[in-house]
Formats: sequence, structure tokens, C-alpha cells
Amino acid sequence: MNAFNDKVAVVTGGASGIGRAVCQALAKQGADVTVADLDAAGAEDVARNIRTRGGRAKSAVLDVRDAAAVETLANDVAAAHGRVDYFFNNAGIAVSGEEREVSLDDWKRVIDIDLMGVIYGVRAVYPIMLKQGSGHIVNTASVAGLVPAPLEISYTAAKFGVVGLSWALRAEAKKLGVKVSVVCPGFIETPILRNSPIRSGVDREKLLALAPWRMDPDECARNILEGVAKNRSTIVVTKHAKLLYAIHRLSPDLSIRFGAQVVERYRALVRGG
Ligand code: NAI
Repeated sequence: MNAFNDKVAVVTGGASGIGRAVCQALAKQGADVTVADLDAAGAEDVARNIRTRGGRAKSAVLDVRDAAAVETLANDVAAAHGRVDYFFNNAGIAVSGEEREVSLDDWKRVIDIDLMGVIYGVRAVYPIMLKQGSGHIVNTASVAGLVPAPLEISYTAAKFGVVGLSWALRAEAKKLGVKVSVVCPGFIETPILRNSPIRSGVDREKLLALAPWRMDPDECARNILEGVAKNRSTIVVTKHAKLLYAIHRLSPDLSIRFGAQVVERYRALVRGG
């Protein structure tokens, strides 16, 4: 028997990348999965694919920026199944560029989806889980929620927020039967790396070449579910992310110095280097 068999799970941002891999891994382990995403067709594709393989899944259109819609989804799943066992606040976006290159609208978009979206998810499902006296909230942050990521400042701010709220909520929820974990991956090979806007217009391949160590989303999902099953507070995925986090804990100044070197390499690319 595994931790996910016959459990009811919701995954936001489930149509693509890490979310899709988590949906597939959950279903493989016997969970009933709701694949929630802004991309309705993509979410239905993932759900259909799971059903075709004999798993249980349905799709739901969801914009995590809409607090009422997130609440409705959580309530609908609870009403349909009698409970919600796992809620993965995974949907996210990124915008790349120096602070002097990005706009206030970029900031607002990232904070609305990456931070407020997680807050809405927590506020929608926590009361349901409290009533049940059980449940596990899993918030996707990033290694950029543990270690500052220059060129992604809005993302860093949102993800540090997600880490902080997850750790604090975990402490509050501990004696109330609800578990809270935060997932902090390093680079995972998903469409976010290809689709996120880069405000300087620098060549994406050259920029990505600065971070050649990338994990496959399925392997990431396996790591995530393993950490969730063990009820880890913080699930750091990829060796590179673990190393960065270890360095940052040892010396925040040292990791900021590394960050400054990355910025210099980026500026050389922007200059056409
Ligand atoms: P992805 O781009 O493949 O998937 C993100 C999904 O979120 C997409 O299906 C998209 O439609 C959905 N989404 C975007 N805005 C939404 C909204 N307002 N409402 C509902 N759904 C929305 O990206 P990936 O890599 O799978 O990202 C998943 C999470 O993992 C994000 O929170 C991201 O920040 C985080 N992450 C990703 C890393 C990577 O290297 N790929 C590293 C660390 C964290």
C-alpha cells in the first residue's frame, strides 16, 4: 500500500511540465486526480491520457488568480469525493531579466500567479482539510525560494514567499492533522524554460546554456511524491539545487557572489558575447 492509493488529489498547473508528471505519477499510484489548469485542452489531454491507461482523472479549467474559482474547485472536489487528501499548488510562471529591464506588470503577473495563486489554494483547501482532520498541502516554490536568483527577482520574491508561508503554515497545522510541504526544484526540463519571456531579448539557447544541468519532469515528480509520502517539510529536487541551498545556508554572501557572476555572464550575452 502506498501513500497515494485511493486518495483524492488536485494539481494546479497540471497540464504541463512538473504538474503533468505529478498527475501521471499520482494516478499510477492509484490516486484519483483532478488536473486543474488555465489551459483547458492541455488539462483534458493529461486527464484523458491517464484514463486511457486505466487511471482515474478528470480535468478542470482554473485560473489560480481567481480566488473564488479556486475555492469553488476545492469545494466541488470535496463534494464529489467526500474529501480532498492532497492539494498541489503547482501552477507558476517566470519572467527573466534584470530589475532594470522588467516592468511593474511583469512583477504583478508573477506575484499574482506564483504567490497569490498559492495563497488562494491554501485558503480554499485548508478549511476543508481542517474539517476532515487530515490532508496534505504541497506548494511548489523553487530553489529560487531558498536561494536568491538574480535575473528572476519577481520570481525569487514570490517563491521566497511560498517557502515562508509553507513553513509557517506547517507549524500551525502540525497538531491539527494537516501536513504542509514545499517543493524546491532546480532546473527541470519543462516548457517554462522555453516559454517564459526574457525581457532583454537575449538568445534563449545561450541563456539556457548557463544552466546545463536539468532534470526530466518524471524524475522530478518521483522525487516530489517520495518527499510528500515521507512528509518532508522541504523537498529540494536536483543535486544542483541541493548544493546551492547548502552553500546559501553556509554563507548567504557567498551565494550572492555566485549570483553576481551569473549576472556578469548574462550581461556579456546581452552585449553579444
Ligand atoms: P510549465 O510551464 O510546464 O507548467 C506550468 C503550468 O501552469 C502550465 O500548464 C500553465 O498553463 C499553468 N498555469 C500558468 N498560469 C496559470 C494560472 N494563472 N492558472 C492556472 N494554471 C496556470 O512549467 P513547470 O516547469 O512545470 O512549472 C511548474 C511549477 O514548478 C511552477 O510553479 C514553477 O515555478 C516551478 N518550478 C519549475 C522549475 C523548472 O525548472 N521547470 C524549477 C523550479 C520550480
